Amino acid sequence: MPDPRKGPLPVTAETVRRAAQALKEGRLVAFPTETVYGLGASALDPSAVVRIFEAKRRPAFDPLIVHTSDAPSAFDLCSSVPPVARQLAERYWPGPLTLVLPKTAVVPDVVTSGLPTVAVRVPAHPVALELIRAFGGPVAAPSANLFGYTSPTHAQAVLDDLGDRVDLVLDGGACSVGIESTVLLVEGQKGVLLRPGGIPVEELREFLPVEKASSTPLAPRSPGQLESHYAPWTTLLLCEGGNAGVYRAASALALSAAEEGRPRPRLGALLFGPQPSDIDDVLDAAENLSETGDLRSAATRLFAAIRALDKMNLDLLLASTVPDTGIGGAINDRLIRASRRPSVPAAGTGTEPKDPIHGN
Ligand code: TXA
Ligand code: MG
Repeated sequence: MPDPRKGPLPVTAETVRRAAQALKEGRLVAFPTETVYGLGASALDPSAVVRIFEAKRRPAFDPLIVHTSDAPSAFDLCSSVPPVARQLAERYWPGPLTLVLPKTAVVPDVVTSGLPTVAVRVPAHPVALELIRAFGGPVAAPSANLFGYTSPTHAQAVLDDLGDRVDLVLDGGACSVGIESTVLLVEGQKGVLLRPGGIPVEELREFLPVEKASSTPLAPRSPGQLESHYAPWTTLLLCEGGNAGVYRAASALALSAAEEGRPRPRLGALLFGPQPSDIDDVLDAAENLSETGDLRSAATRLFAAIRALDKMNLDLLLASTVPDTGIGGAINDRLIRASRRPSVPAAGTGTEPKDPIHGN
């Protein structure tokens, strides 16, 4: 097995074959999808699936998405499939939509965290599809990050988080969508939005009525939807009012530091759209998600931008929400969760350094 610390493997027929072989042996393979990189294991091999939870330090109550190379293989894992679920699959697969449906006995309980449902999706990335076909079965794969941290949209980010906890990383370049799939629970003729994502909920409403999941932090409908998620180590503060709001907040922070005789805090910002000309004067670093205000490009860049700022040893990150239309809803969901402190501690091994803010 190649040493993942030596770097991600370029995609060739040979490396895909090796990755498929690794899955057959119960090992973990990180691979690109159009949304984010996934940390894959054979979905029907419970001991391989347990290794995913260990590598990510993911709590056992948070179920995994099962990836297949076509809709029939996905629906084979489901005990009943309403016609509207088939229509959605027809329209959006391969693509960033995950359907949650009643599971068959074939799906191990460890995959679904004991739930009677299973989440299935056909990813729209040629490398993901090639890998699943070469493996010849369903692949369970969460995002390939440490639990609670920002999802990886390029291969190096997987290694930064997981190092040698992953057996092999296939490098398929940057992910095009950049935000995870939309997770939709289909119950008869209606849908429940468990996670906003790559397919805007407005589009899904053309197929079926969709309500937003109502859940309490202690009993979430979608167990992965914790209040705090996607969070950088550096505290992220959300400001009202777009780039101008970020500018005002940065100026106020600098002013109060000066008044109190403290050094000015080192500030980083996520910007969106045209930026005030002198905003660089009040920031130490900035990533503009899209200067033209394009939401799709902003989604593509979001997680890489957060990771880049998070590596700079800044004191605080500032951001503002984006327009809530289309994929903007999913971007805002990520920004809001990234700005929250965790209320549920991640299950750690105890060997990693403790972080005072995140607790894991
Ligand atoms: O785009 C994506 O969906 C990526 C790529 C790799 O496919 N995967 C991903 O997986 O984001 P993960 O594990 O990070 O998020 C899966 C989400 C979690 O919020 C989990 O709670 C929810 O799906 N989920 C999985 N199975 C479920 C089920 N049976 N019922 C309710 N929610 C479920
Ligand atoms: Mg995730």
